[in-house]
Amino acid sequence: SSQSRIPQPPALPFIGNVAHLDRELPIQGFALLAQQYGEIYLIDILGRKLIFLNTQELANEVSNDAKFRKGVAGSLNEVRYLSGDGLFTAYDDEPNWAIAHRLLMPAFNTLAIRDMMEDMHDICGQLLLKWERFGPDHVIDPSDDLTRVALDTIALCSMSYRLNSFYTENQPAFAAAMTDFLKECYIRSTRPSLVQALMTGATAKWETDAKFMTDVATRILNERRENPIDKKDLLNTMLYSKDPKTGQGLSDDAIAKNLLTFLIAGHETSSGLMSFMTYYLIKYPEAMRKLQAEIDEVLGGQPVQYQDLSKMPYLTAVIRETLRLAPTAPMRMVKPLEDTYLANGKYFVKAGSSLVLDTWVYQKDPKVWGEDAQEFSPERMLEGKFEALPPQSWQPFGFGIRGCIGRPFAWQEVSLVMASILQKFDLSFVDPTYNLALKQALTVKPKDLFIRAKLRNQIP
Ligand code: HEM
Repeated sequence: SSQSRIPQPPALPFIGNVAHLDRELPIQGFALLAQQYGEIYLIDILGRKLIFLNTQELANEVSNDAKFRKGVAGSLNEVRYLSGDGLFTAYDDEPNWAIAHRLLMPAFNTLAIRDMMEDMHDICGQLLLKWERFGPDHVIDPSDDLTRVALDTIALCSMSYRLNSFYTENQPAFAAAMTDFLKECYIRSTRPSLVQALMTGATAKWETDAKFMTDVATRILNERRENPIDKKDLLNTMLYSKDPKTGQGLSDDAIAKNLLTFLIAGHETSSGLMSFMTYYLIKYPEAMRKLQAEIDEVLGGQPVQYQDLSKMPYLTAVIRETLRLAPTAPMRMVKPLEDTYLANGKYFVKAGSSLVLDTWVYQKDPKVWGEDAQEFSPERMLEGKFEALPPQSWQPFGFGIRGCIGRPFAWQEVSLVMASILQKFDLSFVDPTYNLALKQALTVKPKDLFIRAKLRNQIP
């Protein structure tokens, strides 16, 4: 086919397309541009050119580790101030990434994660007890409590450390520092450097938050060295394992950066997923009914066990469909290793260009999902149908060598927590007419979602 120019919305000198950004809700601004310009468009943010890809076909084309590598730019680059060359924020060629990747892969596989069931139940139990004690009239902010669950779970499972978020009225200091830090990372990435230089107050606070978190991680690491425990948590793996290839271990600095990485990458994504799932299930009562029936049948009133998880296909489908419509890590970036063409020679892109896979947009590609692409329909994610989807139609955990290492962890946690909640409670909106609204920092969450939780009485 013949070659086309990649379309760009009208840009202003110097600032380019900054006016096209939606500062409060970036994904919404990008979704609007995708509606207007179609499969691909280019925007210029203060001289930085970003090429957005909006279809399954283009996503599939660039999901290829031989030709494209992860790009770390924008807010992810700001996060490096805290997590540096840790797994999530490492540049493509940093040697510590490969060492940590090889050393940690076994610690994140399904079998290793299985040993974390007990710790996951421990934290989940604190949420169940809270909702039960507060009673059916209490107004719950699910994002708030599910963030407590996710953050406490990752802290307990990765370093046997109790954040005790359920025992403080407000956010615990660590969680508050993390939230503020990530929010500022995003804002920093959209400020012109001249303006950024003037934001000394915000920068001082951002640096203080990062130092506070680094100090906590370093203290936990040092305490562990002085008082070793016999447990297979991620911290012990990092302290005592050696990279099978080089025989090298991780330095204390690298361990601290990866501990912080797990806390960053592992809490908002999972808690956002659980919040969206709560929303969709209340909004679609038929799906809720089917899921609760499956949970009751499989669990028979008993707490969730590891072997139950593979017997709940509808739960799996609901999680998949939630991650399709509301991928909490809504985009990722890749860079071509060499000059190349996309879409059968149609668009030319230079080596090193910033290509943004807009997961939020392209996972609703009507060519793949049909006219009801925007609807919540777990049925399309059941076994058989799911496997038959075009390649990379569903990619909420990223791709390939830089894909999510925490996927089995997140899947087990979300399955356990949501099955336990729905086994015990019937959920409803405080405002029965509530429709999904969004808020965004590094990840996306429902905005102004409030629910009530009433104990179910007919547990079999
Ligand atoms: C990478 C999504 C949970 C740790 C990624 C990436 C995505 C993602 C899209 C690729 C990012 C990129 O290409 O730039 C998710 C979602 C989750 C989740 C949707 C929950 C529903 C977790 C958890 C952990 C974790 C629980 C840790 C315990 C990581 C790490 C990386 C990563 C370390 C970087 C891997 C590397 O580059 O080597 N995740 N994640 N994630 N995730 Fe997750």
